[in-house]
Amino acid sequence: MVEFLKHARQYGNRALPRRDPNFGAPLDTSHGPILYVEGVSVSFDGFKALNNLNLYIDEGELRCIIGPNGAGKTTMMDVITGKTKPDEGSVYFGQQINLLELSEHQIARGGIGRKFQKPTVFEALTVYQNLELATAADKRVWFTLSRELNTIQQQRIDEVLCLIGLKDHRHREAGALSHGQKQWLEIGMLLMQEPRVLLVDEPVAGMTGEETEKTAELLLSLAGKHSVIVVEHDMKFVRSIARKVTVLHQGSVLTEGTMDQVQNDPKVIEVYLGE
Ligand SMILES: Nc1ncnc2c1ncn2[C@@H]1O[C@H](COP(=O)(O)OP(=O)(O)O)[C@@H](O)[C@H]1O
Ligand SMILES: [Mg+2]
Repeated sequence: MVEFLKHARQYGNRALPRRDPNFGAPLDTSHGPILYVEGVSVSFDGFKALNNLNLYIDEGELRCIIGPNGAGKTTMMDVITGKTKPDEGSVYFGQQINLLELSEHQIARGGIGRKFQKPTVFEALTVYQNLELATAADKRVWFTLSRELNTIQQQRIDEVLCLIGLKDHRHREAGALSHGQKQWLEIGMLLMQEPRVLLVDEPVAGMTGEETEKTAELLLSLAGKHSVIVVEHDMKFVRSIARKVTVLHQGSVLTEGTMDQVQNDPKVIEVYLGE
């Protein structure tokens, strides 16, 4: 337990995202999109990593973003999550919340969760404790955890354990999990915050075939309740989950459509051949 609290303190200091009930007006998605990225440009020393990027994500949709190396995919995620502020353009969460006015922390608390490539679970803690920590985050963690979690929080943990397929592993140390299971646990930790939008960067890198299939099922099951944006290189994987696919190239949208449409698009073929 002492070890647990030590981690909890560290985690607390990291100011983990949590939905802020005082975020302001309820999210207005009455026009469809939950995320509006319009005319966004980002330059690094004169080089345009994003160049007049336009992207609209509908509430509850699962969107795959593909594109060759250097296309701007990570920069796009950095802009949405507030890590990078663009030189030009606008980014709205629903119709009213201007994300460019908010800090990275406020955006995460406001319901936009991001899963980085490398899993960052607490290896010495059990699966259950990791989820518990994600629940308690942003409060005075060590204080909260010294009490019983309330029933609603426990139910949410059980629900998330089922979703991420780790119900039977709840008492295992996270460090003993496979790479794929760690990735699911981290997705689970994000889900504890009940994000409206979930950004996932290369979720299946390093996974076995079976883990990749399970990840596809997981992401598909999250769509609808959450809007999910997946950046991935593994085309077979993308095909297995794809609804609408956006191809980025040189910082802009090259084309959008179904997997078949984009894969047969001569512009896309040319760009990928050039890799
Ligand atoms: N912090 C930075 N400083 C300078 N150049 C950067 C920085 N971040 C990204 N870039 C450049 O911007 C381009 C887009 O990068 P990135 O968004 O990482 O592409 P992707 O994720 O699609 O591979 C690349 O050419 C990259 O070298
Ligand atoms: Mg990248």
